[in-house]
Amino acid sequence: MQHQIDKMGSHGTDKVLTLETLNPNVKLMEYAVRGPIVARANEIDQEIKNGAQKPFEKVVKANIGDCHATGQKPIKFIRQVLALCTYPDLLDSKDFPEDAKSRARRILGGCRGASIGSYSDSAGVAVIRQDIAAYITQRDGFPSSPDDIIMSTGASDGIKSILTLLLTGKGGKDQAGIMIPVPQYPLYSAAIAEYSAYPIKYYLDEEKHWGLEVDELRRAIAEAKPHCKPRAIVIINPGNPTGQVLTKANIQAVIRFAKEEKLFILADEVYQHNVYAQGSEFFSFKKVLMEMGPEYNTMELASFMSASKGFMGECGYRGGYAEVINLDPEVRTQYLKSISAKLCPPISGQAVMDVVANPPGQGEPSYELFIKEKEDVLSQLKKKARLVTDTFNSIEGIKCNEVQGAMYAFPQIFLPPKAVEEAKKNNKAPDAFYCFSLLEETGICTVPGSGFAQRDGTYHFRTTILPPLEEIERVLKHFRTFHHQFLEKYK
Ligand SMILES: Cc1ncc(COP(=O)(O)O)c(C=O)c1O
Repeated sequence: MQHQIDKMGSHGTDKVLTLETLNPNVKLMEYAVRGPIVARANEIDQEIKNGAQKPFEKVVKANIGDCHATGQKPIKFIRQVLALCTYPDLLDSKDFPEDAKSRARRILGGCRGASIGSYSDSAGVAVIRQDIAAYITQRDGFPSSPDDIIMSTGASDGIKSILTLLLTGKGGKDQAGIMIPVPQYPLYSAAIAEYSAYPIKYYLDEEKHWGLEVDELRRAIAEAKPHCKPRAIVIINPGNPTGQVLTKANIQAVIRFAKEEKLFILADEVYQHNVYAQGSEFFSFKKVLMEMGPEYNTMELASFMSASKGFMGECGYRGGYAEVINLDPEVRTQYLKSISAKLCPPISGQAVMDVVANPPGQGEPSYELFIKEKEDVLSQLKKKARLVTDTFNSIEGIKCNEVQGAMYAFPQIFLPPKAVEEAKKNNKAPDAFYCFSLLEETGICTVPGSGFAQRDGTYHFRTTILPPLEEIERVLKHFRTFHHQFLEKYK
């Protein structure tokens, strides 16, 4: 015992890292979509496997936008190209279509040693960047340059790399201010905490379909200026967790505001394929900025895309890219240097992005199947978006804006004061208390609104619309019963 105390030293431990000595920014950061409620969901899963009796058969993970984990099947053409890239002997096989082989040959031809096991340039494989630039040119009708395409390990990595450039290296009122929406995807608040930057929170207007109002941007930046140097604005379109799709006029207004305030624009466009509502359309920030002409088309903009979302949902490959335009050439050099320390993103993830950008064209052998699979996924998501919105709105004490895009619903729940009190007694945010009760009683795992931030005094939760339609229908029935009982219990 004495020996142990001696070894533990005056602070009671022999560890270099303790909660007191750990980087405080790490303690500060939170990432709700993998937070305590998910840990509890995993425990319940295990309890069921060990034979525990629960009022439900299994946990339904509606907490994270992980498409394949909830049953979506991979798009065959993507996996064929990946299989060929991974095991090039298959290029001689008759079991693979010629268009998959030509994509694989092109990718392998761009890899050192013709192997996806080699490092690529830090910005990514040149032919893949060419294909992505061609995709963007076709999407927007404005030229995109492969030099502006920087591949990343999922969009997350690309976003963090750009945020790093924007830090000031100073504290107090000289720290970098980054405008982020509220509610927001927690990657942003977590990265801002990790980097000791200052979050400038602008609120989306729930009464106007989670719309983005320029007056609110002005309020947020004016209040933040005494505390930081505003440097950038983040826009998530289509929105996560809020599911809204911005109109072109909205985007133009944000660009004008960014110009006025001299802000770098980070456009998170990972859900660009996920637009469902009638009348909604995806416009990229790049396209709108270019259309706005000379006063605006030289503004600095980074747009992010991912292999994880859309119709492909290949989260585990960690593919993504940023199109970064109008960087000062010296800054560009520094940017490339800063990412070079990471060597390169996985080539397999880059290959997934390549197939998304360069899918089978009309007349190619895989065209019909590819289009069918893509449309099946997107039309199912569209049905589920409608079903989830309508069902939530038919339940007393719940209000849900239309899921216009992305993969989530973010309904508001009107909790009785007694439930709020009970939550406080349990040391939980009221919506976390609600979500934990929902999990324990129905097995449905969602994320409390407090994990994404929300207006004080309002409560929400986020659910994905990813489980298969029949499962969502079943889950919504259980949800309805749970919600009525919860209201009854605390009324
Ligand atoms: C808005 C948004 N941006 C970025 C990401 C990160 O995606 P990934 O790193 O898997 O490409 C996600 C993931 O859910 C997201 O919802």
